[in-house]
Amino acid sequence: MIFTIAIDGPAAAGKGTLARALAAHYGFAYLDTGLLYRAVGAGVLAGGEAVAVAQALDPSALDNADLRTQVVAEAASRVAVIPDVRAALVAFQRHFARRDGGAVLDGRDIGTVICPQADVKLFVTASAETRAERRYLELADKGVAADRDAILAEVVARDARDTGRAEAPLRAATDATVIDTSDLTAAQALSRALTIVDARRG
Ligand code: CDP
Repeated sequence: MIFTIAIDGPAAAGKGTLARALAAHYGFAYLDTGLLYRAVGAGVLAGGEAVAVAQALDPSALDNADLRTQVVAEAASRVAVIPDVRAALVAFQRHFARRDGGAVLDGRDIGTVICPQADVKLFVTASAETRAERRYLELADKGVAADRDAILAEVVARDARDTGRAEAPLRAATDATVIDTSDLTAAQALSRALTIVDARRG
């Protein structure tokens, strides 16, 4: 059984939370594609050359807390504008999307570039202020000292880079359903998504 759920949206909109919950609900595999770009960004911070790092990446070795920092997120969005970096990561993502048993992928270009034929496409968004507040609480929860205004500025700058780039910019596919989570709990967002996916699964 092949069934692909593509979830795109800006930073800290709740894509990961929703994607993980959907994957658990349906027993699908989950890929956080941001981790691929974060791993390349981390490699560059460590002195590597972006395209070479992307081409040599072992996508099975991404479960690493060091990739979750704001510094790495920023580096990820810088390498993500490079066409050859993106190209190096396409085959792995497409293969994952078509694995037997179903898959959920979240990122910026899943419904538009990686899986234009996905069975369900969701575009998860929220106001910049809501997203910055969520990221702040996430960091506070991990005991990381953070500054609300700095996080908001980082989120806005990263959105601008992701939306404005020439290659695979962040945008909703024309056939995506938009879920604005600004005023939704995670449970409410999940319930909307389940209704959409169930309708497609028939
Ligand atoms: O978790 P958060 O939403 O903050 O970021 P992420 O999903 O881990 O993505 C980090 C960066 O990788 C993004 O700002 C994008 O520049 C890039 N990215 C991308 O270009 N395409 C994807 N499919 C996923 C991430």
